[in-house]
Amino acid sequence: MHRVRAVASAPRIVLLPGDGIGPEIVAAARRLLEALGEFEFDERLMGGCSIDAHSVALTDEVLDLCRQADAVLLGAVGGPKWDTTDPDAPRPEQGLLGLRKGMGLYANLRPVRPSPALVGASPLREERIAGTDLLVVRELTGGIYFGDSGRDGDVAHDTCEYSVAEIERISRAGFEAARRRAGGSGGHVTSVDKANVLETSRLWREVVGRVAGEYPDVELDHLLVDNAAMQLVSRPAEFDVIVTENLFGDILSDESAMLTGSLGMLPSASLGEAGAPGLFEPVHGSAPDIAGRGVANPLATFLSAAMLLRHGLGRPSEAERIEAAVDAVLERGLRTPDLAATGETPVGTDAMTDAVLFEL
Ligand code: IPM
Ligand code: MG
Repeated sequence: MHRVRAVASAPRIVLLPGDGIGPEIVAAARRLLEALGEFEFDERLMGGCSIDAHSVALTDEVLDLCRQADAVLLGAVGGPKWDTTDPDAPRPEQGLLGLRKGMGLYANLRPVRPSPALVGASPLREERIAGTDLLVVRELTGGIYFGDSGRDGDVAHDTCEYSVAEIERISRAGFEAARRRAGGSGGHVTSVDKANVLETSRLWREVVGRVAGEYPDVELDHLLVDNAAMQLVSRPAEFDVIVTENLFGDILSDESAMLTGSLGMLPSASLGEAGAPGLFEPVHGSAPDIAGRGVANPLATFLSAAMLLRHGLGRPSEAERIEAAVDAVLERGLRTPDLAATGETPVGTDAMTDAVLFEL
């Protein structure tokens, strides 16, 4: 994926803080970006807050603005206030799905690399997690998330559909990512499916295998999703790039995130065709239980801002500065409550942000 955009001197970034802790962590990331350079920010409602104001999670106006921006930075959406099983009631998640579809963001990149200072926080033994550095490449605009669904009396259905074209482009995203991570050529892609049961998975396996022919330098293997879930726990350090469909990617990326013991640390990028703006967001949710208390961990949002600079704006050196500053504050022992071990005194969002700004 060649995503670097031709961007004017002050890139336009749409900020979608969303719900729960979203506004706190996005405000912190804005401070960080302002310390790095000139940006034009446009802050808008999306998610539950937009339902409260406009009765829909994503307005056409906000979607248009996002399409025209250079990049979009999102906090998190959702919360108990908007939880419902009523099929006709608006849900915050519809905003996120609407953005993905409406912006054509078919490739979701979720890197999982435990910060060296946090290896002890993993639920796995240290020798097992040490050296883990993997990337989940999740298909984001197809499959069961976007197929026909509905209810008819006592029966409900959700349909999973994939086309050859959809599988080809996400496969290429995976192979390209493997090459990039290997420094230009090489790397290893593991394609995950359920080809022993699902027809969409058999098509998936066939197409990924064919696309692999364009990347003879990249190693490819296939795993069934249940087996992949197991292997991720038993030998996480042996994975490089995992390419998979929408629903499997949703599940495996949370599992991978938990391997690090610090879900609050993981960023993500959602990318479309070359030249189109990307969407960048932390993997963790809106954490309504701690919202408004000034204790949210802003680091995953900082690392998402780093992905925005690297993948969205073609500014890799500033991305590296953010990543190094985050590693440095962790090395110095600063911990937000979600990262603090018993006996460690945690710091809040502002103190963590100040420390990262200082390291920059
Ligand atoms: C994610 C989330 C979303 C998804 C929800 C909030 C719709 O879990 O980004 O992984 O399922 O894709
Ligand atoms: Mg998820």
